[in-house]
Amino acid sequence: MRIDIITVLPELLKSPFDASILKRAIDKGLVEVHLHNLRDYTENNYNQVDDYQFGGGAGMVMMIEPIDKCISQLKSQRSYDEIIYMTPDGKTLNQKIANSLSLLENIIILCGHYKGVDQRVRDMFITKEISIGDYVLSGGELGAAVLCDTIIRLLPGVLNDETSALTDSFQDGLLAPPVYTRPAEYKGVKVPEVLLSGNFGKIEQWREEMAHERTQRLRPDLLE
Ligand code: ADE
Repeated sequence: MRIDIITVLPELLKSPFDASILKRAIDKGLVEVHLHNLRDYTENNYNQVDDYQFGGGAGMVMMIEPIDKCISQLKSQRSYDEIIYMTPDGKTLNQKIANSLSLLENIIILCGHYKGVDQRVRDMFITKEISIGDYVLSGGELGAAVLCDTIIRLLPGVLNDETSALTDSFQDGLLAPPVYTRPAEYKGVKVPEVLLSGNFGKIEQWREEMAHERTQRLRPDLLE
């Protein structure tokens, strides 16, 4: 898979891909992540990417021209399955969206800033609009990092058996059950007996029950 990210703040997106699982996935060649600085696509002398909005009002708007140049250049090199715009008014990211995006070959992610992008960018280029939650970030970069993390960890070969995504919360529509490690007793608080029993049938049944109980208690909306 190849992910191209268009941003005015590439430095904000370096560290998420430079550690742990995402770095390993890139090093293993399972995903390519390319950062594109939008300012490299401006024509004007000030490397300006935003301007005042027509009709007046507070806040700058990202201009269409540099975005068009960047997207068009990328599209001339390969075809893209989705061109995603990170925005608080997009569809809220969930596991189902991450699962379906992880099956794609090439995607572009455009990070918004200021008051957002000129509407014509959304109308002419964008195929999907994604929000990471009902709150406003200073820009789309942190959202893009979250989105990439959810996608990349699902790519075949990225996680091993121990970290398999199949047992994650949300993969079966439920929250994950509680987990424990050594010591079996800490300051008088014991690990549930069943987990030490060696009876894998019983352990599996207990995990299922706990997943249901936890989901019912913390996220009943998932069971509806
Ligand atoms: N940009 C600003 N706020 C955002 C959000 N909640 N999700 C994605 N991109 C954003």
